[in-house]
Amino acid sequence: MKRNFGQDVVPTLCDAPNLDPFGSCRVCSVDVALKENGPAKAMASCHTPVMPNSFIYPDSDRIQKLRKNIIELVLTDHPLDCLTCEVNNNCELQTVAGRVGVRDVRYPEGKNHLDRKKDKSHAYMTSDFSKCINCFRCVRACDEVQGEMVLNMAGRGFDSHIIKSFETTFKESDCVSCGACAQACPTSAISDIFESKSVAVDEKIRTVCTYCGVGCNLEVAVKGGKVKSIQAPYDAEVNTGHTCLSAVCIFILQPS
Ligand code: SF4
Ligand code: SF4
Ligand code: SF4
Ligand code: FES
Repeated sequence: MKRNFGQDVVPTLCDAPNLDPFGSCRVCSVDVALKENGPAKAMASCHTPVMPNSFIYPDSDRIQKLRKNIIELVLTDHPLDCLTCEVNNNCELQTVAGRVGVRDVRYPEGKNHLDRKKDKSHAYMTSDFSKCINCFRCVRACDEVQGEMVLNMAGRGFDSHIIKSFETTFKESDCVSCGACAQACPTSAISDIFESKSVAVDEKIRTVCTYCGVGCNLEVAVKGGKVKSIQAPYDAEVNTGHTCLSAVCIFILQPS
């Protein structure tokens, strides 16, 4: 259903262009009725097939309130330190919060996970799960894009949390440093030491990897004449948001 409206109309958080629809955040909810202006039910549009002869209201007052309330609840367990955050101005949560009209925090501070420690144990990958919104995108990217299944969700309800291998650090896990989880993560909860999701670069240059004959597209972020990070564009047919380890190698081997 999502593709009928496009990402410009219906906001999403747990959905990503290169992952199967999952339906966990409900931000993409739309009203669906069986007759015009009849009783409607809120359905998550990213993973609900379109029903013939149904009437879909993607932006009703009720849906706007629902989306705003979902994001407000997400923000009750999220550090509001955007200005000092690596992904400031390149954060899907920030963008969606602005778009659904969140301007203040209505709820008092309650139990939260803001004291979760950062994991900087790995040579390339980093995590800061105080910024995690439990969207499962990293888990699905590691599984569907890279086929490694290093990441998983453990616990239930308030205790739900992302784990690496058998609840260990990035360094001790089976991570192969592909970066798919960092690119998929809509916040700074998973990133890399190169801060590849930061917008603090001079320019981004689209190029083609020369490592093998596949011809993967790369987006190279440059600052001060040096490569700062490399990401895989989602709109590249050949690799659709994915690179093999060689992209990391190209980056590391650049002349100093
Ligand atoms: S992850 Fe996004 S919403 Fe959260 S602090 Fe960083 S910029 Fe702000
Ligand atoms: S970097 Fe790749 S292998 Fe490592 S956890 Fe992320 S998706 Fe999985
Ligand atoms: S680490 Fe990022 S991608 Fe994974 S569940 Fe948390 S917010 Fe979503
Ligand atoms: S984007 Fe549809 S449920 Fe999250």
